[in-house]
Amino acid sequence: MAEVREFLKARGYPDWIIERIQACFSSVRELSMVPPGVLAESCGVDAKVAREIVRQAAEATVSLRPAIEVARTPKKYLKFLVKSIDELLGGGLPRGSLVEIYGEPGVGKTQTALHLAVNALLPTDEGGLGGRVVYVDTEGGFSPDRVAAMARARGMEPESALERISVAEVRTVEALLVALTRARDEVRAGAVLVVVDSLLSPFRQEYSGLGMLAARQQRLAAALGELGRAADLGAVCVITNHVIGKTGGLQRYSPAGGYVLGHAPDPVLLIRRSVRNRRILSVVDSSHLPPGEALFAITEAGLVDVEGLA
Ligand SMILES: Nc1ncnc2c1ncn2[C@@H]1O[C@H](COP(=O)(O)OP(=O)(O)OP(=O)(O)O)[C@@H](O)[C@H]1O
Ligand SMILES: [Mg+2]
Repeated sequence: MAEVREFLKARGYPDWIIERIQACFSSVRELSMVPPGVLAESCGVDAKVAREIVRQAAEATVSLRPAIEVARTPKKYLKFLVKSIDELLGGGLPRGSLVEIYGEPGVGKTQTALHLAVNALLPTDEGGLGGRVVYVDTEGGFSPDRVAAMARARGMEPESALERISVAEVRTVEALLVALTRARDEVRAGAVLVVVDSLLSPFRQEYSGLGMLAARQQRLAAALGELGRAADLGAVCVITNHVIGKTGGLQRYSPAGGYVLGHAPDPVLLIRRSVRNRRILSVVDSSHLPPGEALFAITEAGLVDVEGLA
């Protein structure tokens, strides 16, 4: 916060602008990454002023660095702790990524989200990220009982797990956007995982019909932008999504949300049914992973490898 204050003060901005901006953004780097329109809207400042602030923040923070330095920065992963899936994903879900998990109703998206929420609480040497979790629930699917069962299965006190997961129950798009802003504050304060289960649900209810498409995509882009900024701060962000039917072609389903959602998440993962409690998780789209599949099962303990299961 002090960093943003000093930065704006040195450039001669009036106190009222500084107050508003430092309430929303905690570092100059963060300021350099926000679209000026979002800065103008969220802080109530003029669009031209917002653009100038973002430009100045970029001047101060954007640098070119050798790729070897990037390569040497160790990657930190949130593991599924399911061998088949972690291998498929090259170690797990990297910090700073926005991950989409989509699939048919009842396939296990919520179970997967809860599973990841519990894993994130584990210390890093056990495959977690050792931090708090924000769970934004738009469908009423958050289950403390399931969290408790999965925590127990990992040798964790259920109470200690539940204390470290903050849940926001939202039903409208505007409430979702408020929850995401709060989630970003939590990430700044050390939260390591933000889950939105599911992202599209409130949009489906409020923005139905073709006439509302433009408004819907604008609000959806705002939600994704907020999640992208939480990811830039180092969190893993996981969104779940339903499917829309697609006839013909190799890919039988595609995720809902259209092109706005299409390019934001990386990787995009699909869950499909196999026999009984078996499921198949596949990498549908990723900037760094080849397409592939992993078999797993959903049990009382959460997601598990099928090897050794009856
Ligand atoms: N305690 C449990 N033990 C074993 N399996 C469970 C348990 N609880 C739920 N499941 C499995 O999880 C499935 C439901 O998964 P989940 O609710 O995650 O689906 P979803 O993809 O989120 O569906 P929706 O799109 O309707 O939200 C159930 O069919 C069941 O097989
Ligand atoms: Mg669900």
